[in-house]
Parts: sequence; C-alpha cells; structure tokens
Amino acid sequence: MTASRTALAACLLAAASAVYAQGAPPPDRVIGYRQSVFGLIGWNFGGLGDMVRERRPWDAAEFTRRAERVAQLSQMTDEGFPPGSDTGAATDAKPEIWTNRADFDAKMDDFRREAAALAAAARGGDQDAIKAQFSKTGGTCKACHDEYKAD
Ligand code: HEC
Repeated sequence: MTASRTALAACLLAAASAVYAQGAPPPDRVIGYRQSVFGLIGWNFGGLGDMVRERRPWDAAEFTRRAERVAQLSQMTDEGFPPGSDTGAATDAKPEIWTNRADFDAKMDDFRREAAALAAAARGGDQDAIKAQFSKTGGTCKACHDEYKAD
C-alpha cells in the first residue's frame, strides 16, 4: 500500500469510529430495534407452531423458509441489548439482563444453536425430528422469557 493510501485508510477509519462514537443510537431506537427483531421471530416461529400443532396444513417448503428466517434473525439480537438500553421506552426487558449478562448471553446462544438445528432438521424433511426440534427450540424462548422478559 502506498503512503497516501495508508493515510487515507487511517483517515477513513478515524472518521468511521468518530461517527460511531457520536452516533450510538439512543435507547428508544435500540429498544425499538430489539422489539422489531423479536416481533419478526415471533411471527415466523408462530407459523411453525401452527403447522406443528396441525392448526394449518403441513407445508414443508414453507416450514423450511420460516425456520431459516428464525435462524437468521437469531443472529441479529445482540445489537438490541447494549448497556444503557434497559430504560428509555416501554420495554419488557428486565434489568437483570444487564446485571446477569453471562447467563443471558448463554441463553441467547442456546436459542441460536437450537434455531440453527431446527432449520437443518427442516431441510432434512423428517417430520418427527422437525417436531422434536421445534419443541427444543421453543424451550429456549421460554427459558429466557421466564427469567428476563416481564409478562
Ligand atoms: C436470551 C433471551 C431471549 C430469547 C432466547 C428469546 N427471547 Fe423473545 N424476548 C426477549 C426479551 C428480553 C424481550 C423483551 C424485549 C423488549 O420489550 O424490549 C423479548 C420479546 C419477545 C417478543 C415481543 C416482541 C414485541 O413485539 O415487543 C416476542 C414475540 C418474542 N420475544 C418471541 C420469542 C420467540 C418466539 C423466541 C424463540 C424462538 C424468543 N423470543 C427467544 C428475550 C428472549
């Protein structure tokens, strides 16, 4: 890399971190973000539950599409819980998230692992395996909500 390109890169990097530092989103936007992500997770996971509980006909392609969405969305939750976002707008997130962080993060990891396994099971097509993995994944939602979500 030439000297001028190095200088340019350093300059851009400094500008980017300055913008990031000044532009950290305010808590109400962060809370809106995490509620949106979980709203999407709930929407897609609920559709899977309807098929598992036979409230709507089994559709393997639709199941796989939604399970893959949930697995992808499960990767987007971390940005929703930075320090300082425990208050600032109406939220069901309990303050214990920020005082018991390692446990909260472990529960999020459990969810991600099981959601990825659910997408894999859906692609595999074995309905019994899919249903078993659906319950296992649902268990990770409940484990976190019981501790860290109000109502
Ligand atoms: C590691 C913790 C954790 C896991 C795992 C988790 N959630 Fe949540 N969820 C939360 C928290 C915390 C909130 C409250 C967010 C807020 O109000 O700021 C929430 C909120 C929600 C909401 C309400 C969103 C809204 O409109 O405000 C839904 C729906 C939801 N979760 C569904 C799910 C489903 C379905 C799963 C599993 C497939 C899941 N969650 C897994 C912690 C978790």
